[in-house]
Formats: sequence, structure tokens, C-alpha cells
Amino acid sequence: MPQAAIEVENLVKRYAGPGGGVLAVDGVNLRVAQGELFGLLGPNGAGKSTTIGVCTTRVRPTSGRIRVGGVDVAAEPPRARAGMGVVTQFRALDRGATAWENLYFHCRYFGWPAAASRRRADELLAQFQLADRRDATPEAFSGGMAQRLQIARAVAHRPRVLFLDEPTAGLDPQSRMAVWDLVRGLRAEGMTVLLTTHYIEEAERLCDQVAIVDHGKILVCDTPARLKQSTGAGAVARVSVEQTGAELEARLRALPGVTEVEPTAEGYRLLAHAREGLAPAVAAAAQGFGLRDFSLHEPSLETIFIHLTGRELRE
Ligand SMILES: Nc1ncnc2c1ncn2[C@@H]1O[C@H](COP(=O)(O)OP(=O)(O)OP(=O)(O)O)[C@@H](O)[C@H]1O
Ligand SMILES: [Mg+2]
Repeated sequence: MPQAAIEVENLVKRYAGPGGGVLAVDGVNLRVAQGELFGLLGPNGAGKSTTIGVCTTRVRPTSGRIRVGGVDVAAEPPRARAGMGVVTQFRALDRGATAWENLYFHCRYFGWPAAASRRRADELLAQFQLADRRDATPEAFSGGMAQRLQIARAVAHRPRVLFLDEPTAGLDPQSRMAVWDLVRGLRAEGMTVLLTTHYIEEAERLCDQVAIVDHGKILVCDTPARLKQSTGAGAVARVSVEQTGAELEARLRALPGVTEVEPTAEGYRLLAHAREGLAPAVAAAAQGFGLRDFSLHEPSLETIFIHLTGRELRE
């Protein structure tokens, strides 16, 4: 097997605290191949940032072993850090420095000579469409612009592996897509990317591999396409009714092609083999129960998440 860019073996992290503390990561194993764009998808508190924190030497693990670019991050933190770029969830641009200086000083920090650092800062400003903001400080930046600068800075010292913790959280849709394009561009240049997200769409559309995490554990890990196939469902229906209950649930369960019926806040979610004929069948079954709304969807990673946890992964 070729060496993976990121290898996480049996990672456990328990934060100290009252009552035994918090078990944030509970036995995580990951293998991210070189050049892969890998996503950790999970709700708040799932342990995504903690996992990235340990990979990037910011959090000390309780147990487990991590190699990034073949370097054991606990044994050789400075050498490990030289090979990785990091954008943390709570951004850390130098607000008192200009965009150019943020890039320049980052290169200098990683030991680059002054002239090479100057060239790299100029090159990155152009590549990340920030050339016109060269001498502005980040406090004047929009969220999307600040995020582009964060990513530019993270890759400034030419790492082979990039960690992005919630890279598009809080961004408007247009800025989100701009970040996706940037990340795709970096991957096309051979960068390995591990990102976290709680946006279903980001995991589905951007990532080659997705691990769904909850309560510090990886529930499943595969390509988005295979994860979606894994439910065996061809369609997902949402049914909203005035009156739920055992009788309606049994009726829905008995419909041809329906494989699962799960209660929701408004009624039920149905997994079915195919969408054909589902709408009239549900309408007939729900007669007398006050059918309010009915919608049909393709299975998504959200379907898998609900299937595995019984909860919704709220955006
Ligand atoms: N420094 C800390 N001290 C104590 N507990 C912590 C610390 N950091 C995180 N936790 C706890 O560990 C668990 C996992 O947190 P973590 O930040 O890794 O999750 P996350 O998946 O990144 O969540 P989010 O989507 O909110 O960013 C949570 O219960 C959190 O409260
Ligand atoms: Mg987090």
C-alpha cells in the first residue's frame, strides 16, 4: 500500500474536567491518500476540530498515533508542521498586518529567505485574487476575502497537506463556491486536503471521501456516491400530517417499495426503492390523517446520517 498522506490510528482524546471530563474523540482511524480531498462531516461537538487539532499538533492526544506526510506528529512536531498548512475554525489572521505582510511573515516564520518570501507573497495575492487588497488589513475584509487570505497563508510555505476546519462556515453561497474552487485548484496541484464541515452539500459535492462522525466516532467512511447508495433507497419522501400514530405508520410501512418509515417532527420520512407511484400511494394511505405536505428527494448524506443516528444534521 502506498504511504498515506494522513494516517490516524486509534485516536482517543479526553479533555480533563469534572465527572471524568469529555471524551471528544473515541477511537478514530483514518487513512487519507495523497492528493485526496477528504471530508469529516458531523454535527456540533462531534470531535471534528479535536481530530484536526491533534493532527496539527495543537491538541495533545490521550492515546493513538498520527502521521502526516509520514512524520509522527507527536514525536516531531516542528517537522510535522513544516509539511502541513492549517486553517483553524476560529480564524487567526494578524489583524494589525496587511494582507501581503500576513503572507510574507508566514514564509519568514517557516524559515524562508526574505526575497523568496516577498515573491511568494506577491504570487499568492495574485493566485487568490487579492492583489488589489495587498496593503489592506484583514479587518476591512469580507468573510470570503478573509477566508481566501487564510488559505493563501496556510499554503504559503508549500506544504503537501492542508487542514481546513469548517472552511466555509458563515460564508454566503457565492463565497462558499469560491472557496470550493480554490480547494479544488489546490487539489489539482497535488495537495492532500482534510476538511471538516457540517454542510451536507459541501461534503457531497466537494469531497472524494467522506467520513461521517458523531460523538467522537466515525460511523461510515466512503465516497459520497457509495454512501448514498448504501441506504439501498432510490427515493426519500417527507410526509407532513396533522395526526401521526401507529395506524398511519403501519399503513405507510405496508406501501409497496417502502423500506423504512422514520418519525419526524412533522410526520414521517420514508425510504423507498423508487419514486414512481409513491405520491399517490402516500396520499391514499394518509387519507383521514390530515395530509399537509409531501415532497420527494434523492437520498443524500443527510439520509445516511439520520439513518445511522436517528437525528438530523442541522445546517
Ligand atoms: N478545550 C476543550 N476543553 C474541554 N472540552 C472541549 C474542548 N474542546 C472541545 N471540547 C469538547 O469536546 C467535544 C468535541 O468538540 P470539537 O470542538 O472537537 O467538536 P466539533 O465537531 O469540531 O464541533 P463544532 O461543529 O461545534 O465545531 C465537545 O463536547 C466539546 O465541548
Ligand atoms: Mg469544530
